[in-house]
Amino acid sequence: MSVVHELKAHFAEQVYPDQLGNYSRRKLAQIAEQHGTPTVIIDQDVITAQYQGLVNALPGVKMRYAIKALPQADVIQHLNQLGCGFDLATSGEIELLKGLSISAENTIHTHPIKKDAEIRHAIDYGCRYFVVDNSHEVDKFIAYKDQVELLIRVNFRNQDAVVDLSRKFGCELIKVPALVEQARKAGISIAGLSFHVGSQVPSPYAHIEAIEQCVDVFKTMDDINWKILDIGGGFPIEYTGPGPTIDEFCAPINAALEAVDTHIEILAEPGRFIAGPSAIQLLSVVGIAQRGARTWYYLDDGVYGVLSGQIYDHAKYPITPLKTYDLTRGLKPSVLAGPTCDSIDVIDDDIVLPELEIGDIFVATQVGAYTMASATEFNLYPKANNLWLSGQVHLMAGS
Ligand SMILES: Cc1ncc(COP(=O)(O)O)c(C=O)c1O
Repeated sequence: MSVVHELKAHFAEQVYPDQLGNYSRRKLAQIAEQHGTPTVIIDQDVITAQYQGLVNALPGVKMRYAIKALPQADVIQHLNQLGCGFDLATSGEIELLKGLSISAENTIHTHPIKKDAEIRHAIDYGCRYFVVDNSHEVDKFIAYKDQVELLIRVNFRNQDAVVDLSRKFGCELIKVPALVEQARKAGISIAGLSFHVGSQVPSPYAHIEAIEQCVDVFKTMDDINWKILDIGGGFPIEYTGPGPTIDEFCAPINAALEAVDTHIEILAEPGRFIAGPSAIQLLSVVGIAQRGARTWYYLDDGVYGVLSGQIYDHAKYPITPLKTYDLTRGLKPSVLAGPTCDSIDVIDDDIVLPELEIGDIFVATQVGAYTMASATEFNLYPKANNLWLSGQVHLMAGS
């Protein structure tokens, strides 16, 4: 079979990607008309639903939203109103909270590696809880011993996580006693343990194992006044395939948390679960070229922009043409590419599409987490517009 025939046979088995679910095509078309493209729509109702969903699934666990996932002022403001606290990691994130007059009361500084100036900035803001995972970092707090309490971040490698954060941070469990002793000698309070089993994990088993091992540490080192267990993030969302519901995912975690002494406060640092489903992006076809057997459609944003999570976050976003087409006219092997001059800027080179026209619109969904946060202005393409839907406008059909 020739390469072209093989390609055609391969694409013949592909399914036309209608992944818009219950979104109203009419409403999305109106927004595209009114605001142009590329536009990202962030939906307050979805932030509320995701936050409440997680709070309900993990009763008694206090939420500290990981700002890095989507550091958008409306999102932060809204989560603050819902009673959520914040996981902050940089001076920039602190300035964002300060700019919104959000107090430091329910914050935790989770970056295991910090400059002295960053520590001072966080203390001046009022943050009291900091994460460390090595002895150099413990030493940095000697000067501030009366103003801080430390959590030791423990490392649990997780091959199953889409993003294995323990590759870069966290100490081995065996090193916890030495760090605790170092802090104690220096007169610095140790408040607890934290971990992050990796982002977008497929099952709760890594959380459960980490909780069990932390409980062992609490029990073994019973002369320490343990106050906090921070179970990090990792709560998964659905991109292109089905996954567990948040209740299913969290039920065994709750069971594992039963073993934690009731006076120990449990924190979680969700980022993706709250932010991911809250945003969708509207993009337009700006160019079309036939290259070999495939039709290339060039869109007005790509992997250097909002879809940057394809590179940095290993995510594959559902992407669907907005118009409905006459599919009896056939589907063609196609490529979706971003607008920049770089050849890495390809969104999908394995997609079948009807014949599209310049100006046709695509909708990428689940683009809230680790997308706008890592978007660049490469080629000096400006970043996509943001549109915050604050509850009056609804995107779903029938709403
Ligand atoms: C320290 C820390 N906490 C929380 C998060 C959020 O994780 P997730 O988006 O998986 O919920 C991250 C993600 O990088 C992180 O580094």
